[in-house]
Amino acid sequence: MQTKQLKYLTVAAASVLIVSVAYAADKPAESTKEPSGATFAHTCAACHGTYGYSNDSAFPGLAGMDHQVFVREMKRFRSKDRPSSIMSHIADGYNDAELERMAAFFAALPKKPEGKSAPEQPSKGETP
Ligand code: HEC
Repeated sequence: MQTKQLKYLTVAAASVLIVSVAYAADKPAESTKEPSGATFAHTCAACHGTYGYSNDSAFPGLAGMDHQVFVREMKRFRSKDRPSSIMSHIADGYNDAELERMAAFFAALPKKPEGKSAPEQPSKGETP
């Protein structure tokens, strides 16, 4: 191999190394950690209420929902066995392990007492 070629090779190898080091440094340490059930559950709050305490009859409450029932219904939405334009799209974004983690989060919360607004949420029209 000629000296010139070797020089190019060395430069190329060095740049690959620099790029990969820079990429690794750019990634925050937590990015390798799986998001928790709680993190996923927060994305449901817009419709199902904070922590799944719904104050709107159009959206069923999720707090205190049985673990198995939650997973079963989410899988039914995902497979379109239970047709729902909104929930099918949402359920499609989660794998089985993620559904299990979310189920554990909601199942651990106490159910909302019948006919009462959840204490965590301000009633309609009120500013928090
Ligand atoms: C844009 C609004 C919206 C968002 C966001 C949303 N949902 Fe729903 N969800 C609905 C509606 C509407 C229904 C009722 C659908 C039906 O009965 O066909 C529902 C129903 C459900 C049910 C069935 C409850 C039961 O009692 O059978 C579960 C479980 C559920 N959602 C979980 C979730 C989870 C988990 C998230 C977040 C990852 C989420 N939803 C986000 C609108 C939403």
